[in-house]
Amino acid sequence: MYDSVEEKRPYGQGDASFQAAGGFDGIKALVDDFYAAMDTLPEAAHIRAMHPADLSTSADKLTRFLCGWLGGPRLFSEKYGPIAIPKFHQAFPIGPAERDAWLLCMKVAAAKQPFADDFKTYLLEQLYVPAERSRSRD
Ligand code: HEM
Repeated sequence: MYDSVEEKRPYGQGDASFQAAGGFDGIKALVDDFYAAMDTLPEAAHIRAMHPADLSTSADKLTRFLCGWLGGPRLFSEKYGPIAIPKFHQAFPIGPAERDAWLLCMKVAAAKQPFADDFKTYLLEQLYVPAERSRSRD
């Protein structure tokens, strides 16, 4: 007999994380809330100032990047070409405070999404890795 409960793959396996985030639309909502947080949180004012006035292209890029990064379709490279996140960010003055401000915006945004609580925790833990690798100064 088959179990009627759908088998849940661990996050990080195949596209399990992409699905847990609600696919493209779920990730887009996360990124919109992420940049809304960056736009309003006083703790993020200094990283907001590194970004262009109009955040729509930034949002499209991060949404597409995260789709592939979470095991879904590689929509970033499809539209914008290849990218290495740590290398790209070396051009910006990112230290521990900037890294933490970026992650705080993600935490605030993730809290607003209808994701499973364990996925929110997993997502923040995983994002620490590229955020730390994007650091260009102490
Ligand atoms: C550690 C703190 C971080 C800071 C302060 C930061 C800041 C920035 C800035 C200033 C830009 C350029 C403006 C723009 O194109 O929107 C940018 C671009 C971008 N960031 Fe970050 N970022 C951080 C971490 C991350 C992480 C962890 C990821 C991915 C998981 C990421 C993904 C991207 C992408 C995909 C772009 C667009 C790249 C392109 O233009 O080709 N960033 N970031």
